[in-house]
Parts: sequence; C-alpha cells; structure tokens
Amino acid sequence: MLRKTFKAMVVQQAEDKGFVRSVIDKSVEELPPGDILIRTLYSSLNYKDALSASGNRGVTKNYPHTPGIDAAGVVEESISNDFRPGDEVIVTGYDLGMNTSGGFAQYIRVPADWVVKRPKNLTLRESMCYGTAGFTAALSVLKLREHNITPEQGKILVTGATGGVGSIAISILSKQGFDVVAVSGKKGRKQYLLDLGAIEVLDREEVRDVSGKPLLKPRWSGVIDTVGGDFLATAIKSTKYCGVITCCGNVASPELHITVFPFILRGVTLIGIDSANCPMPLRMRIWEKLADDWKLDHLDRLVTEISLDELDMHIERILNGKQTGRVIVNLQRG
Ligand SMILES: NC(=O)c1ccc[n+]([C@@H]2O[C@H](COP(=O)([O-])OP(=O)(O)OC[C@H]3O[C@@H](n4cnc5c(N)ncnc54)[C@H](OP(=O)(O)O)[C@@H]3O)[C@@H](O)[C@H]2O)c1
Repeated sequence: MLRKTFKAMVVQQAEDKGFVRSVIDKSVEELPPGDILIRTLYSSLNYKDALSASGNRGVTKNYPHTPGIDAAGVVEESISNDFRPGDEVIVTGYDLGMNTSGGFAQYIRVPADWVVKRPKNLTLRESMCYGTAGFTAALSVLKLREHNITPEQGKILVTGATGGVGSIAISILSKQGFDVVAVSGKKGRKQYLLDLGAIEVLDREEVRDVSGKPLLKPRWSGVIDTVGGDFLATAIKSTKYCGVITCCGNVASPELHITVFPFILRGVTLIGIDSANCPMPLRMRIWEKLADDWKLDHLDRLVTEISLDELDMHIERILNGKQTGRVIVNLQRG
C-alpha cells in the first residue's frame, strides 16, 4: 500500500557552508515527476554517492538532495505499458541520485527508460550486492573479452582491489579462469583478496612508477583500473603487446600523464567505461550475465548490509578510501 510519507536520507548545506546528512520523512509528492513510482527495498553505496552526500557539485548541483545512484524495488504506480504495479525492478545510473532524488529513500520516481526488470535468477537484494560497482566490473570484464583477452594470454591487473568495483572484477575474472593480480593499499586485506580468487597481491607502491619512462617491462595482458592517475599511467606502460586496459575511476587522480608510445609501439588499447549511460540493450545483457553465467557464489562474503540510519558512517569510510567490498542498504530495516 502506498505510504504518504517515507524515510529518506537528505543532504543539505548548513549555514557554515558544510554539508549535513539526516534521515527524515519525505512525502511522495516531493518526488520528481516520472513514469514509474518504485517502493525501494534495497540500495547500495558507491563512491559517487559519497561525493553527492558530501556536497560535490560535480555530481549534484542542487541541495537539499537525496543521494543513491542504485535502487531495487517494487513498482507501485506506472503510466508505462512496459511496467505494472508489483513488477520487481532495478534502477542504476542515469541521473538517479545525482540530480534526481535517489535510492537512499523508501521511494523513487523515475522515467520508464531507466528501469530494468529484475532478471529471473537474481533477487533484488543480489542485484544491489552488485549495484553500479558490480555492473561496472562486469562491463569492464566484457570489454576485455570483446577485445579478445583470454586467460591463456597472461595476468590481469586489478587496481583499487578491495573496493566495490575491484572486489567484483577480481571475482568475475577469477571465475572465468584468469590469473588476477590485485593491487591494494590495505596491508591487512591480502587474505580477503586471495579468497576472492586473486593469485597475487601487490602493494600500491609496487605499481606506481614515477620515473617518467615512456614504457616499462611488459607484465599484464589486461588491466582493470579503478583509480586513475599514476597507477593507470604505470599500468598502461606495463601492458604487454596488444593488451587492453579499462579505465573507470579517479579515486587516486583524474590526471593521466603518459606518452603515445604504449599505443604506437605495443598496440595497447585503452577503453573508457561509463556505466551511468550504458545503452539499454548492453545494460540488459550485463544484468543477464550477472544473474547467470557470471553469477558469483560468494556475493555475501563481499557485502555488509546496513540500515538507512547507519549509512552516514559508511559514507565517511568510502570517502576516505577505507571501504572493503560492497555496502548494501536495506530500506525496510528500522
Ligand atoms: N565509470 C563508471 O561508470 C564508474 C562506475 C562505478 C565506479 N566508478 C569509479 O570507480 C572508482 C572505484 O569505485 P568503487 O565503487 O569501487 O569505490 P571504492 O569501493 O571506494 O573503491 C575504491 C578503492 O580504490 C583504492 N583507493 C582509494 N583511494 C586511493 C588512492 N588515493 N590511491 C589509490 N587507490 C586508492 C582503495 O582500494 P585499496 O585500498 O584496495 O587500494 C579503495 O577501496 C571510483 O572513482 C568511482 O567513481 C566509475
């Protein structure tokens, strides 16, 4: 039954210009217009949410605002012929949680063309265990595969390994028989990464070259980079002939200082990854893979489940690079 008010995290600018987060009651009338009203059962925490929740105007222009780029729930109202009340659905990316009231709330209202029906073999909870981070990891692996990177060609490097994208990328690659080398700044998390399927764990500083050399010893047949900056530059310079690097994140830095030599002497390919506006046919293909042949048996090992009230502390953790694995938000939990 549709509730008139619901719980939502709201971020607003305080008089001292800082940003404060609180969980308050909102009404359905306050939601933006849209084709589909969804009762959110689960959301998940991504790095971009932490930026939105801390006043980053590159992500969210106007406050007060409810972040949450991911939501999974049940359709309550629909003016679209494609969706009916009771349908279980997933929304990730597009403008959700950026400048459209997001998934850190018990209701969202969105355009129909943002909505994906829950795949048969995936629960709503499982869909948020993946969330945008898992979707991005899968999209990155798919791009390596489409560029003919196979397990026989050698090791794959994954940076930001204990984070959401990194943890799921390692798991999917390892399930497909790839030898994965994980890079992490968290000294105490080596066993976690080996348990996900990495064959080797390197400290961050081992893969950060600042010598200025245009090329380094070729080591990787493929790279899934989630951090950018010197780490991405080093990875590109260390990729083998005809290897492939995907780039999705910038937690270390948005800058990339390299020369053209890895491209013109080793034929490497650098692929940009954008999950937010991933076209619907590819989006549905990725969700089907996550539900089916790429589905992880150890999803629960990667996940911490929290309530809306516990979210604040986890936002600080992810902002400070301290997150391990994924955090999902159970919106029914008090
Ligand atoms: N393009 C897209 O569509 C898309 C989609 C999802 C995410 N992203 C981006 O991908 C990145 C990772 O997202 P996520 O959800 O996995 O975030 P996350 O869970 O916070 O993971 C990021 C990981 O990067 C490492 N790290 C943190 N600060 C670092 C630093 N200063 N230098 C080097 N490594 C650092 C940490 O892992 P270790 O301690 O193990 O090194 C951290 O756990 C973010 O930039 C995010 O915005 C992009």
